[in-house]
Amino acid sequence: MNSTASAPGKTILFGEHAVVFGKPAIAVAVDKRAEITINKSQNQYTTIKSKDLDFLAEINPDNYYLNLKKGKSGIIKYILQSLLINHDGSPLDVDLKLDMPIGAGLGSSAAVTVATLAALDNYHDKKINIPQIAQKAHQVEIEVQGAASPLDTATSAYGGLIFLSGDGIVSIIKCDLEDSLVIGYTSSRGNTGEMVAGVRKRRDNNPEIMDPVIDSVAKITEKAKKALINDNKNELGELMNINHGLLDAMGVNTRDLSDMVYLARTAGASGSKITGAGGGGSIIAYCPGKVNEVLGILKQNENAIKADFATEGVVVH
Ligand code: MEV
Repeated sequence: MNSTASAPGKTILFGEHAVVFGKPAIAVAVDKRAEITINKSQNQYTTIKSKDLDFLAEINPDNYYLNLKKGKSGIIKYILQSLLINHDGSPLDVDLKLDMPIGAGLGSSAAVTVATLAALDNYHDKKINIPQIAQKAHQVEIEVQGAASPLDTATSAYGGLIFLSGDGIVSIIKCDLEDSLVIGYTSSRGNTGEMVAGVRKRRDNNPEIMDPVIDSVAKITEKAKKALINDNKNELGELMNINHGLLDAMGVNTRDLSDMVYLARTAGASGSKITGAGGGGSIIAYCPGKVNEVLGILKQNENAIKADFATEGVVVH
């Protein structure tokens, strides 16, 4: 039987990195998706391939040994780990379509993982259960990356505007931010695992300095949640700007990211900050009424897209 599922990428509005220390965060699913199609394999190997990423890998189902036949991509590990926890080992053909850049802060690994787990459930005639997929996808990210919060995987699984509480409870915030967000991304890519480890090290070296920084990010996120719920959107820009300064203090800023953050403000964004892991990757700008101006200025130096929302999380097709 042929099984297809897709899941959206995300952008983080508030709280990245602090979320790894059990603090709250807010993210929104964006209309860029990963789609996985699974078929029963005609031979004794499992194949994982992607035209978009130009790779082909063969897996020996007995020992899960991976043989790269063409290209390479870190994303294969997420698919492989998903197969390990959600499949019986019988040979499959797995095909990935991805319409977002990798390592640009859009949560491509979470989207691929969530879509793979859902396609596998559907392949096994299991009805998809979103909380269960979110929880398993988080487990996959931890296995592959070493450390991860449930934020990216929850946003990709549920879709919409997500508040993740400090104790891992997901709630959906109802607020219309359509036509007000721009994502700018650099050509250099950050490695999430390395960035998370770097912040952990800085915190462990100076806990008396870094704990208040992390606590301040948590307070910003709580305040932003209230602002979103009460439709006080004019508070969001300033909160983003403060959050950006604190991400810089955590050591995840780069010259390119910083340039984009300030260019966006010059073009009229009410707020802008690093989004995601940093160290390369992307920024988010909140720019109601100034989307075209911000897109224009960012595209002069780097890449930028308007962040259209995905209210739909993971779906089977
Ligand atoms: C990465 O998109 C977000 C981080 O907070 C890491 C995580 O939440 O796992 C940097």
